[in-house]
Amino acid sequence: MKGSIQITQAFLRSRRSVRRFDGRDVPEDILQRVVETATWAPNAHNRQVWRFIQLVKEKSRMALADGMGSEFMEALVAEGKSHAEAKAQVMRSRNRILEAPEAILLCMDTSVLDMYKDPARSRGEQLMGMQSVALAGGQLLLAAHAEGLGAVWVCSPLFAQSSVREALELPEAWEAQGLILLGYPAQEKAARPRKPLSDVLLRL
Ligand SMILES: Cc1cc2nc3c(=O)[nH]c(=O)nc-3n(C[C@H](O)[C@H](O)[C@H](O)COP(=O)(O)O)c2cc1C
Repeated sequence: MKGSIQITQAFLRSRRSVRRFDGRDVPEDILQRVVETATWAPNAHNRQVWRFIQLVKEKSRMALADGMGSEFMEALVAEGKSHAEAKAQVMRSRNRILEAPEAILLCMDTSVLDMYKDPARSRGEQLMGMQSVALAGGQLLLAAHAEGLGAVWVCSPLFAQSSVREALELPEAWEAQGLILLGYPAQEKAARPRKPLSDVLLRL
């Protein structure tokens, strides 16, 4: 491998999910650059179904965390967790959302998806929309890494669609896909191991 290719591959492999941040704010121009790079992700029909909601107001962040928290609490209690255990888990998740220097909610605007009479075809279009948003999310994580930022994808909004929509007064057609928390990393993160290539790559 040539030197620059090796450097790029090493860079791509060095991204980590970062969950603890130091106190520094993320400059707005850097954040916008990161989101703009995310919009260069490949996407089905170039429909650009992604919507990014930067949660800049404390009020918005609080409404989201509290809305999702109530739904999460109900789910945990229904699963059989004690009230105290459920409350502790909900508070951990709430604090993570409130304490991150930046939070971006990733949504899919379903109103721009192609719909067909055949439900299987419509389902395929919907999945392609989700895949496109996920690619933008992945690209956003890498763009953040390129800026020396750390970030983590948090899945909770996916499981609390109505609370998220209500908390942020989102259009009915927008579906939350994930929340990305960002900031400058508080510490170096060790890599989580990956399966060997021989387990995941088939050559037929
Ligand atoms: C779709 C998706 C959902 C995730 N949800 C969460 C989550 O809710 N909370 C969390 O701490 N990390 C979450 N992660 C991060 C993964 O745990 C992480 O990517 C994985 O453990 C590999 O670690 P690495 O990203 O540091 O390589 C999620 C990642 C993806 C792609």
